Amino acid sequence: MAVGIAVGDNKKAYPGNLTPFVTVTCIVAAMGGLIFGYDIGISGGVTAMPSFLKKFFPSVYRKQQEDSVSNQYCQYDSQTLTMFTSSLYLAALLASLVASTITRKFGRKLSMLFGGVLFCAGAIINGAAKAVWMLILGRILLGFGIGFANQSVPLYLSEMAPYKFRGALNIGFQLSITVGILVANVLNYFFAKIHGGWGWRLSLGGAMVPALIITVGSLVLPDTPNSMIERGQHDEAREKLRRIRGVDDVDEEFRDLVAASEASIKVEHPWRNLLQRKYRPHMTMAVMIPFFQQLTGINVIMFYAPVLFNTIGFGSNASLMSAVITGVVNVVATMVSIYGVDKWGRRFLFLEGGFQMLICQAVVAACIGAKFGIDGNPGELPKWYAIVVVLFICIYVAGFAWSWGPLGWLVPSEIFPLEIRSAAQSINVSVNMLFTFIVAQIFLTMLCHLKFGLFLFFAFFVVLMSIFVYYFLPETKGIPIEEMGQVWKTHWFWSRFVADEDYPIGGSYEMTKGGQGPKNV
Ligand code: BGC
Repeated sequence: MAVGIAVGDNKKAYPGNLTPFVTVTCIVAAMGGLIFGYDIGISGGVTAMPSFLKKFFPSVYRKQQEDSVSNQYCQYDSQTLTMFTSSLYLAALLASLVASTITRKFGRKLSMLFGGVLFCAGAIINGAAKAVWMLILGRILLGFGIGFANQSVPLYLSEMAPYKFRGALNIGFQLSITVGILVANVLNYFFAKIHGGWGWRLSLGGAMVPALIITVGSLVLPDTPNSMIERGQHDEAREKLRRIRGVDDVDEEFRDLVAASEASIKVEHPWRNLLQRKYRPHMTMAVMIPFFQQLTGINVIMFYAPVLFNTIGFGSNASLMSAVITGVVNVVATMVSIYGVDKWGRRFLFLEGGFQMLICQAVVAACIGAKFGIDGNPGELPKWYAIVVVLFICIYVAGFAWSWGPLGWLVPSEIFPLEIRSAAQSINVSVNMLFTFIVAQIFLTMLCHLKFGLFLFFAFFVVLMSIFVYYFLPETKGIPIEEMGQVWKTHWFWSRFVADEDYPIGGSYEMTKGGQGPKNV
């Protein structure tokens, strides 16, 4: 498929195909999402395994065993238990900041390699854990791994992809996150049945498999042309670009990449640079998008689905099974997004997904509220009730999986100009991890206190984020990554922050630097 069609007067259209080379490369790189996904999926299931709780968190175990627990909302409320889940996210937050420099100075691949190796070490320690401190140490290493991978993989994908397919290829990352979650849920389901109760070791140690995949993957992947130019390897970069795009005529794109890179080299302090007025829109998105992504409440379902299903009256087995069901929905709905993102655009998916999540949150809150009331004592639960709750949780997951899930990673990675790309992406990852941490850390306590109102709390944020997207997020579909400046310049609000000379029309940085004025006007 050729993609060299002109998009409009002031937009560029670089020639290039969706070559097998770029497709395979992107699939391998996207595997970086597996480690993140595996981890998200595995911890909730493991903490629902009685043998695991008994060994590491005996007080939670005892509480659960006492049949007399009258308040179901509070049975899992334990700070150490949440610390187990959430310690990882603090580590990931720190690592993503370090990764910024490595990704920028040594290329995207090296960060991916670090990610794989650290994650592998964490998996081994966790699988062999004898005490809580080993669990936490292992998770800190896993977190470092995720910080590196999540910082580099989305950038890698957005730079490699021909712009017309950037959305679809980038969402490969989210797809592998969801596959990782699903695999983890399925494994938990089976490992929980192992006699002797050591199945959790397999669950935690199993994280080595995705870790090895991305480690080996990062060794065989080519560097992105952007990153090679950024490190001064011009000739190799041009050759690589030809190979990736599958056409000889890559001159225009190459020139723009070099120009962007020259502008980027002039930047001595990438972090301080982020504070400039012209980057206000980018910074706003780097903070608000991950913040809102986490405030959809998705990780309440991802981390604690088994716990949650348990709380609302499912047996241990049924709870793990329900987590598998939501996992399948998550994967399938992500595929819908891959199909539609470059056709229907980002904004449509954000708004539709938000609406869908909102309805579901209201219904789930109503169902749980009606049955559990304020005191958390449900009495006998009819079957239809469980089915309705699971159904609406699935519709909610689908809404997230084709909107905020993938777009939360795609949009930031495609809007940052090269000179701030790596640093800004680190902000995106850190904010994401910070709020993942906060949600993970306080969810069980919130469930205990807010009860069914917890779902309304997240619903409120879904309303806010939809308003935000509607007014402040420009459409980025089908715009070459080095041309992205145009979307701010023509935006009703952001145009006041970017001056004409920041992003000349049709204009590469070359135009500004060379002083020839914009072409295509
Ligand atoms: C989010 C994760 C979430 C996952 C669910 C990702 O995009 O960053 O926090 O658990 O989607 O599929």
